[in-house]
Amino acid sequence: MKAAVRLLSQSLAVTTLLLATSHAYAGVDTEVQVTVHADKPGPVIHPEIYGQFAEQLGRGIYSGIWVGENSSIPNIKGYRKDVVEALKAIKVPVIRWPGGCFADQYNWRDGIGPRNKRPMRMNASWGGEDDNQFGTQEFMDFAELIGAKAYLSINVGTGSPREMSQWIEYITADGHSALAQERRANGRDKPWKLDYVGIGNEMWGCGGSMRPQFYADVYRQYATFVHAPSNAPISRVASGANADDVGWTDTVMSVAGSQIDAISLHNYTIPTGDWSHKGSATQFGESEWMSTMQGALRMDELIAKHSAVMDKYDPKKRVALAVDEWGNWMDQDPSAGDAALCQQNSLRDALSAAITLDIFQAHADRVRMANIAQMVNVLQAMILTDKAKMVLTPTYYVFDMYKVFQGATSLPVDVQAPDYRYGNVSVPGVHAAAGRDTTGVVHVALVNLDPHRAETVHLRLAGIAGTNMQGRVLTAPAMTSINTFDHPHIVEPAAFNHAAIKDGVVTVALPAKSLVVLDIH
Ligand code: AHR
Repeated sequence: MKAAVRLLSQSLAVTTLLLATSHAYAGVDTEVQVTVHADKPGPVIHPEIYGQFAEQLGRGIYSGIWVGENSSIPNIKGYRKDVVEALKAIKVPVIRWPGGCFADQYNWRDGIGPRNKRPMRMNASWGGEDDNQFGTQEFMDFAELIGAKAYLSINVGTGSPREMSQWIEYITADGHSALAQERRANGRDKPWKLDYVGIGNEMWGCGGSMRPQFYADVYRQYATFVHAPSNAPISRVASGANADDVGWTDTVMSVAGSQIDAISLHNYTIPTGDWSHKGSATQFGESEWMSTMQGALRMDELIAKHSAVMDKYDPKKRVALAVDEWGNWMDQDPSAGDAALCQQNSLRDALSAAITLDIFQAHADRVRMANIAQMVNVLQAMILTDKAKMVLTPTYYVFDMYKVFQGATSLPVDVQAPDYRYGNVSVPGVHAAAGRDTTGVVHVALVNLDPHRAETVHLRLAGIAGTNMQGRVLTAPAMTSINTFDHPHIVEPAAFNHAAIKDGVVTVALPAKSLVVLDIH
């Protein structure tokens, strides 16, 4: 990718159609019809669907976000400056912490007060030890620093309603209670804003191996003791199902639905389908490319199934579905040492993330939060670090390109496109999502999953007369292309100048294996 097209802020007003000017745009031999129904606006796309998950695990927090004030790595009060700046740039809307499985063994009292007095604990979920240098103060300040909402995952598995309610009071109380005073003594005068609490994590598994009936009652008990300040409500998120376990959703909604603000869903894509050998993040062929895309597309079916069950108890969709863990889970990077769950990130991750975000947008009436797993150095991360080095991943750039959809009004899209086939398997080749932001600009995302074939897309805009546009494209030389510390610019957005508007139709030369986001005025 040329240096001239690297700048993220660079964009180009497009007035002419430039076809087949480079190898990436060659081979335009089929036609795709996409209609954006700007005349039939849907619900608002909650910014929180572009949320993040940061677990106390591997190098996710320690060395990835937190290096401490005395580190030689440039930092802002202990937080890596490079990471903070990168996260601010993608407008992270919400962060879920401290787990994951870690949450149900976490005692919040270990992570408050002077850092040199905090206890060392085993990290029983993920191995190694945790010296608790990153605790409540560090998390809540971090969320404030990058402008994100705070989502705490509460310990239900080994905790108690009292511990939870005291943690919430410590964070949010503004009066003179002992807990508010304790927070002040620890250096924070004003309460923090706490937006979400998750009542346990994966309660069917690492959170306590509970059955849904039992958990639903436990949920009711905990939910009763979530006391929010009257001017700062806290949304209560029930621990939801694994993948397609709709029975879990059914029982929890039926027993506890009236006390639930959101119920979660977790789903990971394992390219091989085998947890004991998930597949390499970098050494893969077209078969794993295809299975990863199939895994991502499954999200649509999962959301539809869970949402249908929720409709039985909540037809007006008051209760949100929060997909608070999702993404690709590959084998750990062999060069990552003991950095648990650290994996590289390729163009494959980027495009599978893009189609997953498209699915969330299509279900914006029900899906009002999602948290990709995970933010830094863990699973499908935005950012990889190694000591002082940092690199932004292809998935990071998808979140960067999609930030225009945060808070936009969703616009329905129809796509007619040939399937992308590999062997006996096929999936729709082209995917699209659209939204109108609060300034009236219509943004359209187009994804071509076919790694070999470019497409000519005819994009019709029902209800608007676009006259001008700009765009960015994310693609790379190979399916396996990655960014590394030594070569950080292999997969990153470039200005897109292969589209034109004529008579209300936008013609787009969509490269193979690419994402294009257009801003249409
Ligand atoms: O994201 C890694 C782990 O995956 C989380 O801790 C757990 O909730 C899930 O099983």
